Order: sequence, then C-alpha cells, then structure tokens
Amino acid sequence: MVKEICSAFTLIQKIGEETLMKLLSSFELCGMTLKNRVVRSATMENMATSDKMPSKELLHLYEELAKGDVGLIITSGVRPDRTWNNPSHNRGMCLDRDDQIPVFAELTELVHKFGSKIVMQLGSFFVFNGDYVLPSVLPDDYASGISYRELTTSEIKKIVSAYGAAGLRASKAGFDAVQIHLAHGFPLSRFLSPFTNHRSDEYGGSIENLARIGVEIVAEIHQRVGSQFPIFIKMNVSDFCEGGMTIDDAVQLAKIFSLNGVSAIETSGGAIGREVSWLGPVDPSQWREGYFKDYAAAIKSQVDIPVILVGGLRDPEMMEEIILHNQSDLIAMSRPLIKEPCIVKRWIKGDLTSSDCTSCDSCSTTIMNEKNLQCILEE
Ligand SMILES: Cc1cc2nc3c(=O)[nH]c(=O)nc-3n(C[C@H](O)[C@H](O)[C@H](O)COP(=O)(O)O)c2cc1C
Repeated sequence: MVKEICSAFTLIQKIGEETLMKLLSSFELCGMTLKNRVVRSATMENMATSDKMPSKELLHLYEELAKGDVGLIITSGVRPDRTWNNPSHNRGMCLDRDDQIPVFAELTELVHKFGSKIVMQLGSFFVFNGDYVLPSVLPDDYASGISYRELTTSEIKKIVSAYGAAGLRASKAGFDAVQIHLAHGFPLSRFLSPFTNHRSDEYGGSIENLARIGVEIVAEIHQRVGSQFPIFIKMNVSDFCEGGMTIDDAVQLAKIFSLNGVSAIETSGGAIGREVSWLGPVDPSQWREGYFKDYAAAIKSQVDIPVILVGGLRDPEMMEEIILHNQSDLIAMSRPLIKEPCIVKRWIKGDLTSSDCTSCDSCSTTIMNEKNLQCILEE
C-alpha cells in the first residue's frame, strides 16, 4: 500500500515536472503555435520518387514524426531545380513544377493532421547548366578531381529567382515556412565565408556582400509570396578552419539576416574535411553533447529573432537547461529521430531518458550508399 502511494506520488511529481518543462510546452514561432519546442532538423531521407516527390515511404516517415509529437518538422533539403542535383543524392526531393504542388500538399496535410508544423528546407545547388559550380574555386577544389567552375553574376540572379519560385510553390503546398540551407560548406553556404568566397562582384568582399545571396533569396521569396511568410535560415556558426568564418563573422551575418526578413536562425557549423563538421568534432575526445551550444548563445544574444540549436543534443534535461539559460529558443535533432521517431511522445509521457543514439553516423552511410535513410542499430 505504502509502495503504491509512493509510486503515485512520484508519478504526480513527474506530471508536475513535465507540464513545467519549457521544452515540451507550446511556443509561438513566427505566427504559428508549436505544440512544443522540439524540431526535427532537416535530414536527407533518400526516399523521393523517380519524379523527385514524396514517396509512400517518405510520407510514412513524416507521419511517424508527427504522431510522435515533434513540434516542428523540417524536411530534407528540397532542390528548387532538379538539374542542380548532386549525383550522390539523386533520391532527394525537388520542387520545380506546379503540378508537383498537390503531392507536396499531401505531405503538409498529413503532418498538420497530427498537430505538427512543417517547414520545407530549400537545399543548395551543386550543378548549374550541366557544370559543377561554386562561388569561387579554390586549389583544393581542383585537387578533388571534379572540374568546378565559378558561377557568373547572371547565373547567381537565375539561382535567386529559382529559390523564389520554389518558395512560392512551397507556400501553395501548405508549408508553414521555408528554410534556406546556408550551412555545411555546400556551394550556397560557401558564399558566406571569406575562406571560400573570393568573388570581386557584389557577391564577394564585404560582410554585406557575403550575405547578399541569402538576403536576395529571402527578398525574392517574400516578393512572390508576401512578406508575412516566415523564412528561416540554417547557417554555420564557424567554419572551424584557419582563415574561415569565425563566430564574430557569423554574429555579423546573423544580424544582417535578422534585419532583412529572416524569421528564425538554425545554428549549425563546419564542413566535410574540417576539424568540426555538422555531425560534431571529428576527434572523438572533443565530442560533447550540444557541441554548438555556446555559439548559438552568442548569436542569440545579438539578434531579436528565435534561434534553433542543432548538433549532438540527446538529453532532454540538458535541452531544458539550454532554453532556461536563454541560449536557444528551440532544440533540433536529426539522428535521434531516425532511431526513435516517437522520442518526444516518450518524454511527454514522463520517461525523460536521453536518446540512445550513439552518433555512430551509420545513418549517413546508408544514404551515401543510395539506400533509404535508416539507423543500423534498428535493423
Ligand atoms: C543522414 C543525415 C542527413 C542529413 N541531411 C541534412 C539535410 O538534408 N539538410 C541539412 O541542413 N542538414 C542535414 N543533416 C544534418 C542534420 O540536420 C544535423 O544538423 C546534424 O545531423 C546534427 O544533429 P544531430 O546530432 O541531432 O544528428 C543530415 C544529417 C544526417 C545524419
């Protein structure tokens, strides 16, 4: 009897704690009410149909995330033009035709049915007019064996316009917002860094010029959709290399974006081949939970728009601390939600055990091998 009373008391305490947890309470984000502050960060599923649209498997995956109570779901990077495709990700989604809108609308309706919100991430270009292109080509890029060339100024204008068209289609398909993928050292994000952008036109040089392509994409989408439509960006907090973008540069860029129509910033960092990538420090001894936490806090202290922290977050108690200490407004995860799509529901029910994702990155290997996104620990 005493045991029963004690366990009932613990349960009531737990419920009390849960309802008090800011992480799991609703949040107003750019005019939308999120049921909690947990975000699914963009994650390439490699599950698009041959026509680059959501497949049945992909719809099922998003249904699981929404049923699992993820407050905000960000899609994998959807390319605004299928000819920009990275051949290593050719089962990613693209949105470049109006007749695709109803199929993408099935995805947004499905997610909304379970009370979650959905944002389309607009991914980077890799190929343009049949060539591999970059803002500037560095000696290391030539050494990669791929013959890159530099984008011309008029090509950049066409790229900006294509983002505008995709943003309009995304809004027609019912997405609550779009996110521009300006992170991870992919060609679009390379504009932001003085290390990878050596251009002499208006897209290179000063910090305003480094930000210009992002600012123009935001303006182009707002011009087509209306200025109320929320546009997020995902950007690097640092390049983590000598001569690369520093956190001070990132703060300056974030301020420019926040003053030019961006509604929320997701803070990520690094690139392939650097000391730190978006998956964390390459040296395992340097890896720690929430590896971009202090960088996000530095940006949050300088901008008036919400910040979404991503990167190695596994423990809900730590997530709560981050929110309580005003280091980030929202918490995003990628790999834990591959392993356990209903983790948020579990936390809401009172089991606050951390994700058991080991960050082994086998999920990245599955998509690099042209398989469907999967956690091998779940096989
Ligand atoms: C398999 C896989 C695919 C990813 N695809 C994308 C993507 O399409 N766009 C993007 O911005 N980030 C992508 N990311 C990065 C994640 O959004 C996230 O920034 C990173 O995995 C760190 O978060 P985590 O520790 O919670 O996994 C991907 C990560 C993984 C593991």
